[in-house]
Amino acid sequence: MIDPSARRSGYSYGPGTGTFAGRVGVRVAGTGIALPSKRLNNADLMKLMDTSDEWIVQRTGIRERRIIDADKKESTKTLGAAALRTALAEARMEASELDLIICATMTSEMQCPATANLICDILGAGTTGSFDLNAACSGFVYGMNIAHDLIRGGAYRNIGLIGADTLSTLMNYNNAGRGTAIIFGDGAGAIVMRATDDVNKGLIAQAMHCDGTGWKEIFVPKCERDFPAGAVIDPATMNKVHMNGAAVFKFAVSTFSNLIQETLDKGHVKVEDVDMFVCHQSNSRILESARERFGLPHDKLYVNIDRFGNTVGASVPLCLHELRAAGRVREGHKVMFLAFGGGLTWGSSLWQM
Ligand code: UT7
Repeated sequence: MIDPSARRSGYSYGPGTGTFAGRVGVRVAGTGIALPSKRLNNADLMKLMDTSDEWIVQRTGIRERRIIDADKKESTKTLGAAALRTALAEARMEASELDLIICATMTSEMQCPATANLICDILGAGTTGSFDLNAACSGFVYGMNIAHDLIRGGAYRNIGLIGADTLSTLMNYNNAGRGTAIIFGDGAGAIVMRATDDVNKGLIAQAMHCDGTGWKEIFVPKCERDFPAGAVIDPATMNKVHMNGAAVFKFAVSTFSNLIQETLDKGHVKVEDVDMFVCHQSNSRILESARERFGLPHDKLYVNIDRFGNTVGASVPLCLHELRAAGRVREGHKVMFLAFGGGLTWGSSLWQM
């Protein structure tokens, strides 16, 4: 694997640093979430596999996750559409007023069309442009950076960004799958981003990285050739998540801290000036290691993994929505969004809200 600190990408914004400064600002005009109706707590998992509440809580911090109920027609598109509908209501907009809809997902409804296209149909978005973005757990943060710059550059004024994933469809809820099935949950979150005359609002710094040599640490094979050379192939694991938990854990712990430092440096911002860290909820121990390294108070690094598990592309917008609803992220705050996952990918987005 490539040393995550070896390469740097992205750039800084603001006076003297970016070509876009002074044109238009970007603000979050609305957020929304949607969660499946079915709850799967640790006791439920204990009936399906050899595990315990104590093991799961100690190793991951997770107590419950939500999973879709196919009988109720819950899926990536229905969750994504519901989340964006709520975000649009807060922004007092119709879907047809959006210039673009982006759906960050690794569990798209089908191969073609994109889930974002299906969401356009559900919401009656007319001919609004739309596409999916797959950067696994980093997808939503990648999407924030892309959508922001499309607005900042002047090409678009209103963009709906969704993070929606239904990893329960890629799990084996049995002993063989216990290393992954305990972690993941389903959900969706969305934001509406709008252009504003306040040029101070929007990104201060961002980063998007990938180490493709680490692809085999998390992958979903469709056929035999998708497996790494020499792998023993169990047909029951086709179309299921294969994850080397220990390797991803190690990658995440070092990457997370390095990414915070890189983003602070790019933005010329001190850690104490950041009001909130909104992080991908992968494992509470990974979050805790970064919190300790930077000496952050508990209330500056939000954790909701205990209730939702790791919801992949949905986890960052789920946190943001809860924080805004509680008044803990508001206008004037500096907020750092961080994510890492399959790819291996990692990315950050530091905002002046
Ligand atoms: O979203 C981004 C992508 N994913 C992540 O960030 C996940 C990162 N990784 C992790 O969170 C952790 O690696 C896991 C929670 C997945 C696993 O925890 P771990 O402490 O790394 O466990 P392990 O895989 O090293 O396994 C330790 C032991 C093994 O038993 P032996 O070989 O020591 O006897 C496993 O078989 O724990 C066993 N084990 C379990 N025991 C009870 C594995 N899964 C379970 C389970 N319940 N569900």
